[in-house]
Amino acid sequence: MDFIIRQEKNSDYRQTENLIREAFWNVYRPGCLEHFVMHTFRARPEFVQELNFVMESDGVLIGQVMFVWNALPDCDGRQLPVLTLGPICILPEYQRKGYGKLLLDYALEEAAKTDAVGVFLEGNIDFYGKSGFVIASSLGIRYMDEPAEDDVPYFLCRVLRPECRQLTGARYRVPQGYFVNEVAAAEFDKSFPPKERLRLPGQLF
Ligand SMILES: CC(C)(COP(=O)(O)OP(=O)(O)OC[C@H]1O[C@@H](n2cnc3c(N)ncnc32)[C@H](O)[C@@H]1OP(=O)(O)O)[C@@H](O)C(=O)NCCC(=O)NCCS
Repeated sequence: MDFIIRQEKNSDYRQTENLIREAFWNVYRPGCLEHFVMHTFRARPEFVQELNFVMESDGVLIGQVMFVWNALPDCDGRQLPVLTLGPICILPEYQRKGYGKLLLDYALEEAAKTDAVGVFLEGNIDFYGKSGFVIASSLGIRYMDEPAEDDVPYFLCRVLRPECRQLTGARYRVPQGYFVNEVAAAEFDKSFPPKERLRLPGQLF
């Protein structure tokens, strides 16, 4: 199948948000928040415009990925630029056909052209491990307020530059923009076609 990966345009916004909603709906919680996260992040200064990509096939958006600037202190206390990745998704009917990996690998190549020393996210190592992510605790990087000695198997890092290995002991913080107001998200969701929120096995929240 022919596809292109390009930066998101203003005219794509609604279609991108709908794609995110379709991909995340009932996956991690009943309904989802990720389309609202995308909606609110675009206006925030830490949103990385040049790494805001969509995958398009035959005029249809079938995938998207976005990044946010973040920073972590190295062992000398210098703040090093890092990126937080997400959301990333593929439209359900196109999942498990290799598109997610293609989009992720393209986005990581572009991310490597920035000053960022590494990319961080919360996700499944079975997918991200194929694109070079490792469990961040293996680099000595801690997640939020989790105890230093705990492995956090879903907290992943992709090293972009050798300096990333000097982040040992740093404590990663999820950028504030990911903590959206759930009432505002539910209100935003009403502007999309109705969808049933279901409590399903395997959801995290
Ligand atoms: C996760 C997602 C982006 C992956 O994209 P995709 O196109 O389905 O993935 P690919 O076909 O490129 O997968 C490549 C490999 O990664 C692994 N993989 C992909 N999705 C996986 C999943 N959900 N669980 C475990 N392994 C997975 C598989 O090994 C897969 O190879 P295989 O299909 O030959 O076994 C997509 O499934 C999606 O949008 N899911 C819903 C939203 C979401 O969870 N986003 C990520 C949040 S962290």
